[in-house]
Amino acid sequence: MDKHSSYLLLFFLILSQAASPTAVTDHRSAYIIHVSPSLQPSTSPTPFHWYSSTLRSLPRHLRHPIGRIIYTYDRVIVGFAAILTGPQAAALRLIPHILAVVPDSPSFPHITHTPSFLHLSPSSGLWPQSSFASSIVIAVLDTGIYPYSRSFIDPDLSAPPTTFHTSCEFQNSSASGRPCSNKLVGAKFYYKGYEAYLGHPIDETRESKSPLDTEGHGTHTASTVAGAVVSGASFLGYAEGEARGIATKARIAAYKICWAEGCFATDVLAGMDAAVSDGANVISLSAGSNGKPPDYFSDPFSIGAFGATRHGVIVSCSAGNSGPGDYTVVNTSPWIMTVGASTVDRDFPADVVLGDGSLYKGVSLYAGADNITTADLPLVYGGDAGSAQCVSGLLNSSVVADKIVLCDRDDNVLVEKGGVVKLAGGAGMILANTKEYGEGVIALPHLIPATMVGASAGNKIRAYISSASSPTATIVFRGTFIGDDPPAPKVAFFSSRGPNYRTPEILKPDVIAPGVNILAAWTRAASPTNLDDIDSRRVDFNIISGTSMACPHVSGIAALLREVYPDWSTAAIKSAIMTTAYNLDNSGEDIKDQATGKKSTPFIHGAGHVDPNKALDPGLVYDAGIDDYLAFLCSINYSKAQISLFTRDGSSVDCSSKTLANPGDLNYPSFSVVFSNLRDVVTYKRTVKNVGDLGCGDLGCRVYNVQISSPPGVDVKVTPSKLVFDSVNQSLSYEITFASIKSTEAATTSRQFGWISWSDGVHKVRSPIAVIWQHSQVSSM
Ligand SMILES: *[C@@H]1O[C@H](CO)[C@@H](O)[C@H](O)[C@H]1NC(C)=O
Ligand SMILES: *[C@@H]1O[C@H](CO)[C@@H](O)[C@H](O)[C@H]1NC(C)=O
Ligand SMILES: *[C@@H]1O[C@H](CO)[C@@H](O)[C@H](O)[C@H]1NC(C)=O
Ligand SMILES: *[C@@H]1O[C@H](CO)[C@@H](O)[C@H](O)[C@H]1NC(C)=O
Ligand SMILES: *[C@@H]1O[C@H](CO)[C@@H](O)[C@H](O)[C@H]1NC(C)=O
Repeated sequence: MDKHSSYLLLFFLILSQAASPTAVTDHRSAYIIHVSPSLQPSTSPTPFHWYSSTLRSLPRHLRHPIGRIIYTYDRVIVGFAAILTGPQAAALRLIPHILAVVPDSPSFPHITHTPSFLHLSPSSGLWPQSSFASSIVIAVLDTGIYPYSRSFIDPDLSAPPTTFHTSCEFQNSSASGRPCSNKLVGAKFYYKGYEAYLGHPIDETRESKSPLDTEGHGTHTASTVAGAVVSGASFLGYAEGEARGIATKARIAAYKICWAEGCFATDVLAGMDAAVSDGANVISLSAGSNGKPPDYFSDPFSIGAFGATRHGVIVSCSAGNSGPGDYTVVNTSPWIMTVGASTVDRDFPADVVLGDGSLYKGVSLYAGADNITTADLPLVYGGDAGSAQCVSGLLNSSVVADKIVLCDRDDNVLVEKGGVVKLAGGAGMILANTKEYGEGVIALPHLIPATMVGASAGNKIRAYISSASSPTATIVFRGTFIGDDPPAPKVAFFSSRGPNYRTPEILKPDVIAPGVNILAAWTRAASPTNLDDIDSRRVDFNIISGTSMACPHVSGIAALLREVYPDWSTAAIKSAIMTTAYNLDNSGEDIKDQATGKKSTPFIHGAGHVDPNKALDPGLVYDAGIDDYLAFLCSINYSKAQISLFTRDGSSVDCSSKTLANPGDLNYPSFSVVFSNLRDVVTYKRTVKNVGDLGCGDLGCRVYNVQISSPPGVDVKVTPSKLVFDSVNQSLSYEITFASIKSTEAATTSRQFGWISWSDGVHKVRSPIAVIWQHSQVSSM
């Protein structure tokens, strides 16, 4: 009987496909379907049965081909992902237990010396106090991992915590090749949304359908967050020294969610769901949307992170590499730690010396030895040889042969230009910014002797080429340079900036961390440039830049703090990192913005640069939990249906009982104030919890006094201005009022900045203030 019915089914499917061509041609793609679990009928033994029968319950003409379930979700959201036609998706939306049907969408990865720049020391502070986070599991959701790297081998580690359960899904079956260990405790991969997007199986000649990293990004981020100690690490001789992850003894679980053409929301959510279900403590996610951040309820990073936060899992994400423009920061949900990128005190100088003796500073990771100089060679501008940007196939070989070629920067892969010059017979390259790129330069592993210079040097070199009768140049590679000239940190020019496009009342990014020229492990399954057609090099370590590199530094700090404070909320850990961040560079001046050379602002660096040892003892924390975040969603006027996607049981939230008057009232460790006119007044409420080790005792009670640095044009008042704590874990509240006192004449500057700090003489609990006068209002004055 059963046999018969399955034959019948098969036969029927073939018939129906032949009879209705629309069923085969109708475009099918992946969707995320949120369901309300409280409505699961008792007749469905499992959620999967329920979701399958939901798909089978669609009207007859929408059943062929039947929707195919690719994932079920249970931790960060409740529901499933399925391959559906547009009409099937539309019909599902009308079913009462379906809360939302969201089309899949791609996002992208935001493409050592750093521990000592962070002042982490094995002998004192956060490292020894946290035992290097050895009982913490960090889930790295990225392009996979190269398990054979020395960074993922630590024979001294004992078995991982028993609360963590996962699998190791590499294809290598040889016993010696079994790559998981007490360090790399698991590796999984999520590709079904990606394949639905491709419309065909993954091309395994191009990427590996396994957790193996064939790109390098995931290996780099994983070793930054928790790589073991590797001495003598370097990239082709650059940055030689000891490489180690921030949470040096934490365990790594890799979840491959990003593929050659992006990271798809269905796969991202599957990875987050698995990481939470497996028992990870921290999720490090160096990826996000490109362009404006989606609404919180349709952004997989946002909604996934909300679910993770509910389970006490800290989610740290990159801010994006779309700077230096305004409103470019992504991953802006208040429950996410949003990390921008800054420079460290390490540089790879490679100077250009022209035939007239003038010298221009550049940077390079060209794989020559230290202190080498190219011969004095004829210099030509790409624009005089067929292509100013040195685009492939356009350079005239008879013009560039044996010369150094000046190429203008564009938005394409920059290392590729050296390959183009090489193919055309050129001997070297100067990559020069044009005006729109300003002075921000990146040290790159060029394929020929090459360096990169800023826009003003570029202009001077172009002028020299057009005026000299026989222009020449040499490039002097000076190796690795460590020191406080130029001062560090600076905010990287590419680091995405605020204001927060979705909710200007929440300051984003939250902090900055090292993200420029970061040395970390690389995969041997790809070249260091990812240009495998022209680059046959394989390396164990690579130096790359991006907010992707900054995020795992903060994920690592969060892991160290989680080890020390297992009971703290995710918000408390985030608060500790933010309120102890610093704002001065290593020359004692305000941190600068690499893009402009001017003083950076909280819209660019958030609370400032992370300071892990200080974060160990913050004094006070701004705590918050799921109820506060739901109140925040009410305060931004999300509908009941939208908010129900965040409540695990799909229940609706009664916003009238939620008390936030304004989204800026969320108990956040920073302040962003939006004035709608020149005489506006905004009041926020905050509550701080005393987590200092001293309550009332022989030494008296902890007394915190406020110090205020008002933004120009704003009167800031804090009441009360003194907080007296009687015990540990006690919470006290205060109100902060911002009054715009701008005169009409001063209305040309529409942003100002300041800070407040609570201090008991030992701790300084600092919060930045950013103020915007809404443009339309100001300009209409
Ligand atoms: C399989 O394991 C061996 C032994 O460690 C290793 O050399 C090889 O690269 C691995 N192959 C793949 C495809 O990971
Ligand atoms: C670099 O090399 C030149 C020539 O070989 C030598 O004179 C100079 O001292 C070297 N500089 C450094 C910093 O090693
Ligand atoms: C390349 O440059 C040479 C020398 O200036 C010139 O004779 C030739 O026409 C150029 N070729 C092209 C394709 O422009
Ligand atoms: C303070 O609260 C934490 C949990 O957040 C708890 O682990 C700790 O024991 C409490 N300390 C005191 C002195 O009550
Ligand atoms: C929410 O709606 C209220 C009432 O319509 C309005 O005053 C407020 O500005 C809205 N808030 C946001 C963040 O849109």
